[in-house]
Amino acid sequence: MTLDTVIDLETAKLPLLHTPLPGPKAQQIVDRDTQFVSPSYTRSYPLVMKRGRGAMIEDVDGNLFLDFNAGVAVCATGHSHPKVVEAIKKQVDDFIHISGTDYYYPHLPALAEKLSELAPGDSEKRVHFGNSGAEAVEGAIKLAMYTTRRQKLIGFFGAFHGRTMGALSLTGSKARQRSGFGPQALDVTHVPYANCYRCAYNLTPETCGAQEAKGPHCARIIEDLILKTTVPPDECAAIIVEPIQGEGGYVVPPASFLHTIRQIADKHGIRVIADEVQAGMGRTGRMFASEHFDFVPDIIATAKGIASGLPLGAVIARSDLMTWQPGAHASTFGGNPVAIAASLATIELLEGELLQNCAETGQYLLDGCRNLMERHEIIGAVRGKGLMIGIELVKNRETKEPAAAERDQVEIECFHRGLIIQGCGTSTIRLSPPLVIDREQCDFALRTLDEALTAVTN
Ligand SMILES: Cc1ncc(COP(=O)(O)O)c(C=O)c1O
Repeated sequence: MTLDTVIDLETAKLPLLHTPLPGPKAQQIVDRDTQFVSPSYTRSYPLVMKRGRGAMIEDVDGNLFLDFNAGVAVCATGHSHPKVVEAIKKQVDDFIHISGTDYYYPHLPALAEKLSELAPGDSEKRVHFGNSGAEAVEGAIKLAMYTTRRQKLIGFFGAFHGRTMGALSLTGSKARQRSGFGPQALDVTHVPYANCYRCAYNLTPETCGAQEAKGPHCARIIEDLILKTTVPPDECAAIIVEPIQGEGGYVVPPASFLHTIRQIADKHGIRVIADEVQAGMGRTGRMFASEHFDFVPDIIATAKGIASGLPLGAVIARSDLMTWQPGAHASTFGGNPVAIAASLATIELLEGELLQNCAETGQYLLDGCRNLMERHEIIGAVRGKGLMIGIELVKNRETKEPAAAERDQVEIECFHRGLIIQGCGTSTIRLSPPLVIDREQCDFALRTLDEALTAVTN
């Protein structure tokens, strides 16, 4: 039997490894990459992709992997979904580019209208298109600054908003992301996020006000301390918050955290920006993560899952806010017709059945991860919504000392068993599979995590 007859990527659902990893072809490519590609990328293990279908990846040596990362929470509809591929091919046949900054094409307003309808809040909205998450964040903060004529911003520790100079000023994730880049471009004050597992103030949801009308301390501090000391409210353009913190560790805040931010912002004419780049576009089982919390931001930045892997970012804002003049903000490629076509097909699939699958399968996976806690003392916390699930590893459940090296080792152990996962935060395993996965694939992932955790802790 040849390898080709063994592997049928179209029907495969579970991993099949034929070579030690990396295989010989993968090793050659890794070597070449090491020589020619920027060393600033952050690879954890040598996965070298050749093809993908659904949640399956075939590497260059013919090994099959189950993908529980989806290209960092991007390929929501799975790899090369036939409907997305068809939409892309049709668009490429028609035309590839003309630039929405200067000309019109039908699907640009079509996607803008769709996103406006889907985004939380009843107000009419308008949409600006860019090419990435960082660009969407840049657009969102520029819009907040433009409409308030204010310049200061408030963000959160643990947040990741991108690495372009403006977005980097907001990013409060890892020192190495800022190291070497001098003073930040923007005037941002960071405060602790609502991480109830590791409360910066040593409070609990029962003692911090989260369950009372006043709201949790970690949000109130913005008004009680920050706006009174370092950020004069009439100079503050926006508070930018991830409704579920992504790179910071898949942290789910209490709803009252977001509501209190909203109230404080309204009182002082400050814009609220939700960075939904990672949590948005169906990943949490709702189109936007904000919906889980009845949270209505003024401006939303979204990207990643919006176009099944084609580069696209969007800023969605209330129409009465998106009032900037022609020339204020645009980019040659932003809203590229092929990416827009992919996005329209993606949203159709999400609305068709993937959102529901995400919510249901996500709950099944979350329950399975919680069960793993009983077998593995190293798991300190399991949290998430939909298929955005974090498993935080600790050396000791009492002290909560992060088990960072162990987390890295679990990633590698999973890779060697054919499961693709990634870390986030200091010691959290993130599960962000394509939204097409089924229970059989969840069971494999849970078994593999179980084995990997056992291997790392014994
Ligand atoms: C919440 C959030 N915002 C912004 C970004 C930046 O997106 P990009 O890498 O497309 O620039 C990311 C990327 O991980 C993200 O998770």
